[in-house]
Amino acid sequence: METVLSGIRSTGNLHLGNYFGALKNFVKMQHENKCFFFIADYHSLTTHPTPADLHGSVKQVLSEYLACGLDPEISTIFLQSDVPEVAELYLLLNMNAYIGELERTTSFKDKIRLQPDNVNAGLLTYPVLMAADIIIHKANKVPVGKDQEQNLEMTRKFAKRFNHMYKVDYFPEPVAYNFGEELVKIPGLDGTGKMGKSEGNGIFLVDTPEAIRKKVMRAVTDSGPVEKNQKMPEPIRNLFTIMDVVSEKSTLDYFLEKYNNCEIRYGDMKKQLAEDIINFTAPFREKILSISSDNQYLRKVVSMGAERARASASKTVREVREIIGFKPF
Ligand code: TRP
Repeated sequence: METVLSGIRSTGNLHLGNYFGALKNFVKMQHENKCFFFIADYHSLTTHPTPADLHGSVKQVLSEYLACGLDPEISTIFLQSDVPEVAELYLLLNMNAYIGELERTTSFKDKIRLQPDNVNAGLLTYPVLMAADIIIHKANKVPVGKDQEQNLEMTRKFAKRFNHMYKVDYFPEPVAYNFGEELVKIPGLDGTGKMGKSEGNGIFLVDTPEAIRKKVMRAVTDSGPVEKNQKMPEPIRNLFTIMDVVSEKSTLDYFLEKYNNCEIRYGDMKKQLAEDIINFTAPFREKILSISSDNQYLRKVVSMGAERARASASKTVREVREIIGFKPF
């Protein structure tokens, strides 16, 4: 059994792309591995030092993940800030993390370009905290997207360096958890690229039926196919890709045939697609709303998660202190 750990950004609602791209697999993965899921609320301060509603956004993210099927009974689901042990490991790892290598990471360079007036030390040492998050639970698999691969590489570097410096074989070197074939990439509604957070491009699980209809009707199309069985341009293929995951096969086949015969009416297809998306997201939306209004349940989930995560984290910190040479008198 592998130990899998996933860090979740504490901002932004879940959209269809997140669901099919990762969450659906997370839900399955819980039964095959020892899983840790946590909300990276400390990390969020590197970009949002004075958040308007930190607690509210953490609560929303937590409710959405639970509604999608993360199970607090089988997985350890917790908040980063509920496990202060991670701050101690972060401090210790910082002593062996070099300014030069941190300055060279792409995410640091990207972020200082985005926020030139707030080039804080937390931003520089972001990969160190992320490494601490991972190795404090001795995780060996981390499901990450392309944008996080370099951070995972740094994690391996810090783990290896620790082992080497203190002449131990203590931390495992975590690798990316690859869903391979099962990974479904959901495109956005703006014609090109994948679904993201940007206005209009994404459909969120909490979107109201009216919002979904509006977004789908506004999706980018073209003036229609000009010859039978022609190759689909990207914006049209994108609509079919979304239809493929939310609609009945017969619906998909119906519109495919219309397209191939040059008889398609995008308006009809979009109307159908919108209704199918609404049917798909409705149970999630309902669950999200009910979970987020059940404070007692959320409190229970969070305290159970914190207890388990702290047990695992404090064991590691105790052993790390010993390895480095801190000793009680
Ligand atoms: N950096 C990750 C992101 O932006 C979030 C994160 C923080 C994380 N700590 C982690 C992811 C540990 C995986 C493991 O998405």
